[in-house]
Amino acid sequence: MKKRSNVLGIIVVVLILLVSLFGLKLADRSMTKTNAKQEETAKKENIPTIGILQLVSHPALDAIKKGIVDGLADAGYKEGKTIKIDFQNAQGDQGNLSTMAQQLLTKDKKLVVGITTPAAQQLAGKETERPIILSGVTYPEQAGLVESEDHPGKNVTGVSDRVNIKAQISQIHEVLPKAKKIGILYTSSEDNAVAQAKTAEKEVKALGLLPVVKSVTNTTDIHQVATQLASEVDAIYVPIDNGIASAMATLVQVTDQAKIPVFPSADTMVKDGGLMGMGVDQYQIGRLTAKVVVDVLKGKNVADYPIQVADKGTTYINKKKVKELGIEIPESIAKDAVMVNE
Ligand code: TRP
Repeated sequence: MKKRSNVLGIIVVVLILLVSLFGLKLADRSMTKTNAKQEETAKKENIPTIGILQLVSHPALDAIKKGIVDGLADAGYKEGKTIKIDFQNAQGDQGNLSTMAQQLLTKDKKLVVGITTPAAQQLAGKETERPIILSGVTYPEQAGLVESEDHPGKNVTGVSDRVNIKAQISQIHEVLPKAKKIGILYTSSEDNAVAQAKTAEKEVKALGLLPVVKSVTNTTDIHQVATQLASEVDAIYVPIDNGIASAMATLVQVTDQAKIPVFPSADTMVKDGGLMGMGVDQYQIGRLTAKVVVDVLKGKNVADYPIQVADKGTTYINKKKVKELGIEIPESIAKDAVMVNE
């Protein structure tokens, strides 16, 4: 009897020991789990959060956005891992743009990037402290976003995508020396386009040619306005304009029918049916924007961070359109140009 109870006693003790050991192990495991979780949350909370506001989707702006994300990743800010990016696209709607700008300017954002002039204007109009980084904003000064390009002066700096309009117009003249009437088509609600159209008009006149300037208020006007314009001119110049970039297919449908070449101001717009044009590589605009973002995240002072210009521009030639329209491009231009749609 005594012996048996002794044995029982030992078994009970061993069992108790085993159970408590197991319990300890479980507790230990759940401790490491909570620690890992806490660390993860902490990490998440510690990584910078930025916002990006894009006016609309068209190939140029989508390339810019990609350039930003890739450029950040290469600098060690990987989306979702070492940086959080809140991305909003207004789909071309001004009302959306305003609401989204407001939504993006929450406390957690270290800075907000505005792709296009209208997007940047919405952000800068609502935020005077936190950095607003411009991406593909043609004329930041004329758009009222900075005091000057060399010394922005406030919380706004970034990257311009402008090209030399004088060089663009003289290139049109070189390709089509007989063309007398040069159409200029732009969107009147975009400050960037208004400013470029004005300069283009001046440069066309300076060459002794006749500018015919027409604007649209909306992409839905493009078909009608372009039809009229194409019937009056020998060629059409298009500035860096979001409305037209969003509706290149409509424009080109009209100009192809009239056999009028289009000279746009971005690589993507040449690809989308322009004959040729001088423009800045859109993806590079994004990559350069990423560099500014990183500099600012690391503490660079925005007020004296000069506006960056992506590059001086490349000539893009749409081989398919050259053939279709039967236009000969002088070798002096073709030799330094990038061919698209070969
Ligand atoms: N520069 C335009 C703006 O200021 C935006 C833009 C960037 C753009 N790249 C483009 C527009 C290419 C048309 C085509 O709003």
